[in-house]
Amino acid sequence: MRLSFAAIALAGTALSNPLPQSDVSVPTPTTLVKDALWIRGVTAPNYHKYLQTKPANVPGVAILESHTTAGQFAIEGGQLVNKVSNPPLYMWVEEPTDKANPPRTLSTWFNTTKSPFGTFAWQGDTLVWTVASVKRQNAAAWLVCAKQQLYVNTGAYAYQTPSGCSDHTIHYYNDKTANN
Ligand SMILES: *[C@@H]1O[C@H](CO)[C@@H](O)[C@H](O)[C@H]1NC(C)=O
Repeated sequence: MRLSFAAIALAGTALSNPLPQSDVSVPTPTTLVKDALWIRGVTAPNYHKYLQTKPANVPGVAILESHTTAGQFAIEGGQLVNKVSNPPLYMWVEEPTDKANPPRTLSTWFNTTKSPFGTFAWQGDTLVWTVASVKRQNAAAWLVCAKQQLYVNTGAYAYQTPSGCSDHTIHYYNDKTANN
């Protein structure tokens, strides 16, 4: 991973003068920190692809990608938070204008502030996202589409899958190391 000048400079200095948030990228520790979990796909074509952003641990679209750059997460008060970014990053889900007839895919991304829309939870080891205003067939249904981007699937799992996307449920994994 390429480190920005800012990140290199930051590594050697006190944190009294924080840099603009967009310049801060924390290299992903290769072992889980306390209270954190990996989150990953478990079926082709994204078997053992892990939730993250690119670059890692900065605000940006949510993707499933290599174990070598995996983010580390926890659910706190219904928010899905990245535990190794500085500042913490929260996963957001696109709020559709017409909630009764939402688009098939709702985009997802990480931002520095808490998400105002919806609630994340575990069902067993499976990540679910719900919001009262949007009815979903399956709260565990996600789609991974172009550029590895992760979407909420507002339709049924593995039914009329949008072109260029693949159906996934995504799961936490709590072994020390993210594996391939
Ligand atoms: C990020 O959070 C800020 C503050 O809540 C908000 O104004 C902004 O629209 C958000 N941006 C994205 C892309 O979510």
